[in-house]
Amino acid sequence: MYSAMIKVRCLGLIGFMLLLTACSFEPNDMVNSNKIVNATAPIGLKVGEGFVDPIGYYEKTPRFSWLISPKANYQFQQAFQIQVASEAATIGAADLWDSQKQLSANNAWIKYQGKPLASRQKVYWRVRIWDEQDKVSPWSELATIELGLLSNQDWQGQWIRHPETGETDNFDFIKKDRKTKTQKVIKVSNKVYRPEYLRRTFTAQPTIEQARLYITSKGIFNAYINGKKVSEDVMTPGWTPYLKRIETLTYDVTSLVNSGNNVLSATVAEGWYTGRILKPRPLKVKPSALLAQLEIRYSDGSTQLVTTDKNWQVTLDGPIRAAGNYDGETYDANYEMPGWNNVDFNAQSWNKVISEEIEPQVALSPKRHQTPAVKLELPAISIVDVANPKQGVVVFDMGQNMLGVPELNIPVIANQKVTVRFAEALNKETFYTKNLRSAKATDYYIPATSGDINYVPTFTFHGYRYVELSGFDSSKPPELSWVKGRVLHSDFDVTANFESSHQKLNKLAENVVWGLRGNFLDIPTDCPQRDERLGWTGDAQVFAAPSMYMADVYGFWAAWMESVREAQAKDGGVPNFVPNKGHGFGKLASAGWGDVAVIIPWELYLLNGDKQFLQDNYAMIKRWIDFHQSKSEQYTSSLRGFKDWLQPYADKGQTPQHLISTAYYARSLDYAAKIANVLGHERDAVTYIETLSKVKQAFRDTYYDENTKVKSASTQTSYLLPIAFDLFEGQDLKKAQQHLVDTIEATGKHLGTGFLGTPLLAQVLQNIGRSDLMFDVLFTETYPSWFYSINNGATTTWERWDSYSLKDGFSKASMNSLNHYAYGAVAKWFYEGILGINAASPGFKEINIAPQFNQRLTQASGSYKTPQGEVKVSWQIVQGKLDMQVTIPKNSHANVVFPQVESLTINGVSIAEDELLKKPMLSNLSPGVYRLKGIVQGV
Ligand code: BGC
Repeated sequence: MYSAMIKVRCLGLIGFMLLLTACSFEPNDMVNSNKIVNATAPIGLKVGEGFVDPIGYYEKTPRFSWLISPKANYQFQQAFQIQVASEAATIGAADLWDSQKQLSANNAWIKYQGKPLASRQKVYWRVRIWDEQDKVSPWSELATIELGLLSNQDWQGQWIRHPETGETDNFDFIKKDRKTKTQKVIKVSNKVYRPEYLRRTFTAQPTIEQARLYITSKGIFNAYINGKKVSEDVMTPGWTPYLKRIETLTYDVTSLVNSGNNVLSATVAEGWYTGRILKPRPLKVKPSALLAQLEIRYSDGSTQLVTTDKNWQVTLDGPIRAAGNYDGETYDANYEMPGWNNVDFNAQSWNKVISEEIEPQVALSPKRHQTPAVKLELPAISIVDVANPKQGVVVFDMGQNMLGVPELNIPVIANQKVTVRFAEALNKETFYTKNLRSAKATDYYIPATSGDINYVPTFTFHGYRYVELSGFDSSKPPELSWVKGRVLHSDFDVTANFESSHQKLNKLAENVVWGLRGNFLDIPTDCPQRDERLGWTGDAQVFAAPSMYMADVYGFWAAWMESVREAQAKDGGVPNFVPNKGHGFGKLASAGWGDVAVIIPWELYLLNGDKQFLQDNYAMIKRWIDFHQSKSEQYTSSLRGFKDWLQPYADKGQTPQHLISTAYYARSLDYAAKIANVLGHERDAVTYIETLSKVKQAFRDTYYDENTKVKSASTQTSYLLPIAFDLFEGQDLKKAQQHLVDTIEATGKHLGTGFLGTPLLAQVLQNIGRSDLMFDVLFTETYPSWFYSINNGATTTWERWDSYSLKDGFSKASMNSLNHYAYGAVAKWFYEGILGINAASPGFKEINIAPQFNQRLTQASGSYKTPQGEVKVSWQIVQGKLDMQVTIPKNSHANVVFPQVESLTINGVSIAEDELLKKPMLSNLSPGVYRLKGIVQGV
């Protein structure tokens, strides 16, 4: 496709290095006749972690990024100028900041250095750049930033809520006795809060110029003005360490406020704040509450504030009778209050709210990443036959395991309760919910009249593929149109586009993306269905970098890392899951889990090149290293952990915990040293490197014998860890590589790895020149392997290699989710390995294209959006003949490294034999589209 668009007019070999200037597209604008001004302005203006014209922005000192248009008639930026102004009309005066011409090739993460910005402030900004010939571009189009309420002092109102303090019910809780490994069901007191309906009327004057609603809740909310929902966001404000920080939302509600009478209203339910987390809810948890501030600005400059205060009314007698994340929602249409959120509604029978002061120690901060939203709608694909069917019970197959809620359009009978249950899979043709553990995951709908209803649960979410309905009007035959699946996740774009000639590999890539979709609801979770759904730090550290190749999730991760910082304990320990405070859990920290503190900052920095991210996390990183140190003696670590979690055949021997802890201590030291160097903390870096070399020695001597054989059971992970983390050198490294290969061969090329080992496998095998073995493992069909899950009907990635089989159903009940993303970390290699898209310098200013070919694949394609633009790779090999197209974005360079190739041409020009022996064989390629053809050996 690309080739037709290429105009070969500027290809050349310069000096010793092959400096190829690609064929650029014809610019669609005219070049200025005096040759000083370029015709193409920068595009794609963003602030922070990718926000376009944000309202309610969180950062006082925004970071600016832009792109050179792929259509520009130039390749590189050598300087930029940013202007920031309070008014669009006077942007040229740049009253807030004029960076002036800055000699810099950076087009991303440029920090604002102008006059301090304040809450609510709206600013306009633009950028222009100078190209490689010092020609200036026109100014970009104007972009805007409007700040949210940045400090607690900006809030005039109070938290408001219903005066009742909840009900207590008896909860059947499964208690495990760790010693005897038995389980028993015990009755535990559990606090339940009914969803609240709150409202307040107010009068607005004519000539409203602008209205903003600043709002948040303890619990989750929906807000309305004059009966209209202010947004389609769901589960807002999301989940942060609530005892330290609650995020706030800003909505433009100018079009919703009328001059005259208005009503501002909201519903608030438990969500994560008030709802139970893992266990029954402790009795001391306070009820949900609302905080809102509507600010109206009139054209004469005056303002009016409507805040949450004692003047609000509240009722618990609305139709949503109960709602919890784990347990589901109950909706009783008999309680509907028509027009409750409209002006004319008579709320006399409602209660007055009680109000509570805003706590000074809990920061109210603008939400710093996208809110969850309905991202996809899936139709039911079949009505399934179950074993022992019951009259009036029907099971729908949505065809996809997902996180979301159903939309029901069903016939009902007045006051006959409809029950909706959810399951991830059928177990021997029965609807199976045991793996949800104590999560009731059941929605109820009580109709007031007979007829057809439309119902979508509001304040809950489920992890499911199958939906079981009962209680509907069973005189009507069930239809597929009765159930739709609404897929929920944080509102980022899913960019994944890896595609190959192998259907099962494509299915695996697709399943990994569904694992991502299923676990990115405001925080990164282990699973979306059982009574857990927690931000497990170990799962997060292995999946953060891979997820970046599949979705626009930098903002998502950066936001969660703020929560990780807040959750760090006084002794430096980073807890096993985040957020964790306020739910009665300890501060337990584990190796491979708490190391998230160092691993995510460094690995995401490599992909983005945003130093601010390192800076923000540096204090936490240092304290985590100190914590690791405090758990070490003679440079080996005794930090606890979960070993190589869920490693298969664990009864035949596992990688010892302290080997893992010491390896992770080393990994964190290595990354911390690199981070310290980038940030200019050389002394820290020196200390970390010194300690690292002692840890390496201790690791080598303690856990491995003279032949570099692990002293304990020979597991794949016991060799993967030191090779991936650079802990061995020389002969030790060579021997360990051989042992690793032997352990893989010994299992018939099956996986022998758990959560920590699996994500390391592909890169290690590629680095030791054994991508062929990685392909063998990847294409293995039997347990334990990725394809085993696909052969058994997987539509997501599972928690266990043997979570489920079509023949026997679920393998275990208690710890067995069909939607866990950790093993999906392999998808990073689809992009970095099979396509070969790698960051050779932080943020992809320099790109390495190093595809891995294999006889099982005749074709592969995909792309990745770097901070400079999209890198695209697509290759095809037919009978050893390679035809490959690579697009290098503007303002970056690329090198190409092929494993085995002969007689290569690039855009029709032959590459000399001796160049082909070099690594990289093509270096310093300029931006553009390249077509590479050659003969690939051994494929
Ligand atoms: C979670 C995991 C987590 C693990 C720690 C499990 O319950 O689902 O994903 O990492 O606990 O061992």
